[in-house]
Amino acid sequence: MKLLTENELIWSPIVANNRMNRKRKASGINSYEKELKFKPEEYLDTCLEQKTHVKWLDLCCGEGNALLQYARAVSDEGRQDRVTLVGIDLVDQFQPIPPFVNCLRFEIGSLVNWTNDDQYDLITCVHGLHYVGDKLKALSTGLKLIGNQGVLIANLDLNSIKIEGDQNGQYLKQLFIENEIEYNARKKLVRCEGHRDIYFNLTYKGADDKSGPNYTGQEAVDSYYGMTTV
Ligand SMILES: C[S@@+](CC[C@H](N)C(=O)[O-])C[C@H]1O[C@@H](n2cnc3c(N)ncnc32)[C@H](O)[C@@H]1O
Repeated sequence: MKLLTENELIWSPIVANNRMNRKRKASGINSYEKELKFKPEEYLDTCLEQKTHVKWLDLCCGEGNALLQYARAVSDEGRQDRVTLVGIDLVDQFQPIPPFVNCLRFEIGSLVNWTNDDQYDLITCVHGLHYVGDKLKALSTGLKLIGNQGVLIANLDLNSIKIEGDQNGQYLKQLFIENEIEYNARKKLVRCEGHRDIYFNLTYKGADDKSGPNYTGQEAVDSYYGMTTV
């Protein structure tokens, strides 16, 4: 099988796909609340009761509607100066930021080449990792950016991560257990509280965009790794 490099993958029709759902809001119908069983606003509002400033990073944010919904709410409540919202996506399909919103910024780029020095109270990645080549690099970037009391929640299908020699698919599950990262195999959700710096000991080989639909019913990308040998 010919595996795609990260640069080839971003031009794949599976990734540069206009039919995928990029419109989810934070809560309500078609929302992060529905996908993650977690209401971002409630979480951030609770954080705001305990600290002066909160930060939410949304990886693969699509149109950015989740961040925009919260930005509007904090603007209405007059507390934008206590909030920082950042969204990143490969594709510039962000909805316009209203002129009265000053707590939100969008960045265009691939997660695998992106990093940031900040620490976030909330990091979300809703149905984004399915399309990323080096999913573990993207995940480890997210894990490093969680603040001490922060949380990361992402949709992650471990079936789409193929590791050479990992016959029973236990390698990552075990690594997650050792690092106190929750993985719900039924809901395909990964959740981590507090900063982690994880060495996966895996070498990324490339991506397959022809693996067909994943558990969401949408065509997605499989990512291939080999054990790192020194
Ligand atoms: C199914 S959409 C979900 C968007 C948004 N989270 C939502 O739920 O509305 C997946 C998003 O991942 C983005 N994406 C795919 N590969 C990416 C990459 N390597 N880096 C950053 N974003 C990526 C796509 O452009 C798309 O906007």
